[in-house]
Amino acid sequence: MRKQIAAGNWKMNLDAEQAQGLVSEVMGIFQDEINNQAEVIFGAPAIFLATVQHLAKDHPQFHVAAQNIHQEAKGAFTGDISANMVASVGVTHVIIGHSERRQYYGEDNALLEKKLRIALDHGLTPIYCLGEVLSDRESGNTFDVVSQQLSEATFGLNAEDFGKLVIAYEPVWAIGTGKTASPEQAQEVHAYLRGMIRQQFGEGIADNTSILYGGSVKPGNAVELFGCPDIDGGLVGGASMKSADFTAIIKALN
Ligand code: PGA
Repeated sequence: MRKQIAAGNWKMNLDAEQAQGLVSEVMGIFQDEINNQAEVIFGAPAIFLATVQHLAKDHPQFHVAAQNIHQEAKGAFTGDISANMVASVGVTHVIIGHSERRQYYGEDNALLEKKLRIALDHGLTPIYCLGEVLSDRESGNTFDVVSQQLSEATFGLNAEDFGKLVIAYEPVWAIGTGKTASPEQAQEVHAYLRGMIRQQFGEGIADNTSILYGGSVKPGNAVELFGCPDIDGGLVGGASMKSADFTAIIKALN
């Protein structure tokens, strides 16, 4: 059975007090309530990772993700953080290949493969993001684009390593725009991605890979999205920073 996951991505938002307040509120509501299969992940800015990890550490269903890591193990890379640093404070997940990293920092599939490998080498679970921009969708290229993003960055991994990934389909035109892919649009891409995974790595791995949807997930659309057979939860930006909204989204996991 693959995991159902609600992952928040705070991006470059919140200060220390707000971050701690948010985590405490969400965890307070959920101590005993969420079902055993569900996993909640806080995608915190690097500077808050240790604090948030400390708050979450005694609660097996709550996890913390870095939003990025460097592709090298260590060295003279002023301002960057390594997979080892992230793992050394007890953080278990890392978001890799978010469209904002692709767009503003020029991260391409070859670089992202390196980041996936270094994350896996340090025992981190990567949440690998992919998705088409509006012009790709309008010109009918969605499947070509996501297929390239998936295969170029992940199909060089062996099956055991691929099996450790979480995939997040995030149509770029739906991120932070208030426009959500319809459940049918999202399900179609998720099923396509799972089909590719099945072909490359086999039935067992395809069945066990959690594929999250991201792009304006809100309490009002989460139930319908998460109800689709190939959607295993969400990667949530804006709504993950409001405790009431994020907890409603967690409750929508099935
Ligand atoms: P959004 O962001 O929920 O604010 O659209 C999603 C994401 O960027 O992961």
